[in-house]
Amino acid sequence: MIDIHNHIIPGVDDGAKSVDIALDMLREAQRQGVRHLVLTPHLYEPDILQGTQVWRERIEQGSQKLFQAMQKADLEMSLEVRAEVRYQELLHKIISDLDVLIGGRYLLLEFSFNFVPNRIEDIIYDLVIDGITPILAHPERIVPWQNEPSKVLDLIRLGCLSQIDLGSVLGSLGKSSEKLARYLLEEDAVHLAGSDSHNLTSRPLLAKPGYDWLCDNYGQGLADKLLIENPERIIRGEEIEIIIPRVHEMPVSWRDKVKQWLPFNGGFR
Ligand SMILES: [Fe+2]
Repeated sequence: MIDIHNHIIPGVDDGAKSVDIALDMLREAQRQGVRHLVLTPHLYEPDILQGTQVWRERIEQGSQKLFQAMQKADLEMSLEVRAEVRYQELLHKIISDLDVLIGGRYLLLEFSFNFVPNRIEDIIYDLVIDGITPILAHPERIVPWQNEPSKVLDLIRLGCLSQIDLGSVLGSLGKSSEKLARYLLEEDAVHLAGSDSHNLTSRPLLAKPGYDWLCDNYGQGLADKLLIENPERIIRGEEIEIIIPRVHEMPVSWRDKVKQWLPFNGGFR
């Protein structure tokens, strides 16, 4: 398997608190059958208030500590460092200054859990026009989308991919996240599954249990697609196949049906 979303670099965000914890998280990933990890530390707006260079140096230092400790511990794993970027005004500067794109074209893009910008369609459109494919990080955990799931389908129609957290389908991230994750799976609107692992306890890796859950509930074909085949294509910068979500038509009331057939709306308002 390939894990495309996690917080294992020590001491750089709310993920691994120490090098030892980071090493244990990697060992756990190996034990569960993960052979490659895209390390995706958070990149919030305050992180780059003093320029993008500050974030770059912090991540380089954290990564170096991890790589040295791996060597010392004789732990060999295939890793690459990118980012989980929170949407912010300086998004385009971040993309041009920092090595955040996976496979040179995919952006793991996170939105606030409680607020999605009104102009999100324009934001996505601008990225797609620039040749960047946004991967919506855990859309099932975003409250406005939990209240209006079809919004996620609209964004996929605009060119986004969606990545669910394995904790969501396994129920460890709350009922609402689980419900929206199930809805998106039913709609063929999930393209990747990531661990979003932050530690070994409250936010563990769950790659193998997540893979098994997907096999049991949606078949091995989908489990392989979300945890092996699609991530593989993404890290190589290749296109992945998506099913364009169908448009759910709003149910039309009898009153509106009658109005369509009568001249001058038949006096209906
Ligand atoms: Fe994350």
